[in-house]
Amino acid sequence: MNNLYQRDFLRLLDFTYLELKNIIILAQKLKKNKKNKKEIALLKKKNIALIFEKESTRTRCAFEVAAFDQGANVTYLGPGSTHLGTKESIEDTAKILGRLYDGIQYRGHNHSTIEILAKHSKVPVWNGLTEKFHPTQLLADLLTIKEIFPEKKFHQIKCAYVGDAHNNMGNSLLEAALLVGLDLRLVAPKECWPEKDLFHFCQEQIKQKKGSITCTENIHKGVKNVDFIYTDVWVSMGEPQEAWEKRIKLLRSYQVNSSMLEMTHNPKVKVLHCLPALHDQKTYMGKSILKKYNFKNGMEITDDIFQKYQEVIFEQAENRLHTIKAILISSLLNKITF
Ligand code: CP
Ligand code: NVA
Repeated sequence: MNNLYQRDFLRLLDFTYLELKNIIILAQKLKKNKKNKKEIALLKKKNIALIFEKESTRTRCAFEVAAFDQGANVTYLGPGSTHLGTKESIEDTAKILGRLYDGIQYRGHNHSTIEILAKHSKVPVWNGLTEKFHPTQLLADLLTIKEIFPEKKFHQIKCAYVGDAHNNMGNSLLEAALLVGLDLRLVAPKECWPEKDLFHFCQEQIKQKKGSITCTENIHKGVKNVDFIYTDVWVSMGEPQEAWEKRIKLLRSYQVNSSMLEMTHNPKVKVLHCLPALHDQKTYMGKSILKKYNFKNGMEITDDIFQKYQEVIFEQAENRLHTIKAILISSLLNKITF
């Protein structure tokens, strides 16, 4: 019997450390099998609904390719393409989708929506990002960390997350750190620290384990001796355009650049980014915002640093596929054998 069968995945704390570890081990096996062209399709005849109220490249493609690789079918329900919450309640939509599909992925504006979907659909519901959490991203991040340090235990890993920690990534990193016991430092101005309740809960609970969670405004202190520097965009999807000005003022000195990397005193430090990244002017947003606020070389991360660490960053992005596949299999199959 698989412990995760029929379980929802709305946030990392829905799982125990052991359950999370098993998903990562399964993802490693699935990645190896796919690379060796030995993948076995275990999800034939399963149907999966993908609700996206916000844009996505990695998450949508990872869910779709994971499903196709495993023989499942998907229906993509993009922004504005269902009655969800407009002409039909979330509860009623959950009831009908739960009758048609074996599982539902939701990316959207309100975490409360996914909670209602999970409550009323009777099938597993997976969080592909809400304003509060981005748990499937963290599965890929933990797999990437494990691949880089296969011999180390998670509690031996020091990770500084620098930038807007008051977002879904900040919250999910806190939960991941608590579960696996990372030494996590959230390095940001006070205004960008996570919500107090979740922060204090995780900080208190981790005391019973190895690992630690801290928040600091001090970059030197926060990044000293870390194995990883992790960053994310400074303004998240769904936030108003006006947020940029204030956020840039607060975060300008928290840019991941070569001087910050020197402050780690670790020549082997690695950089992670959940992507998409504003590291150059090759996008519409990059052109307009970087120019408007006079950034010469990327925003949350400079282009030279992005290029230098791109192998890790794109491996991290590829790992979305393998970990999402692991979560689909874990929640849709009672017994996993291959
Ligand atoms: N990291 C991530 O979730 O990317 P997408 O927005 O492209 O899905
Ligand atoms: N914090 C970002 C994460 C993107 C993957 C956002 O919500 O837009």
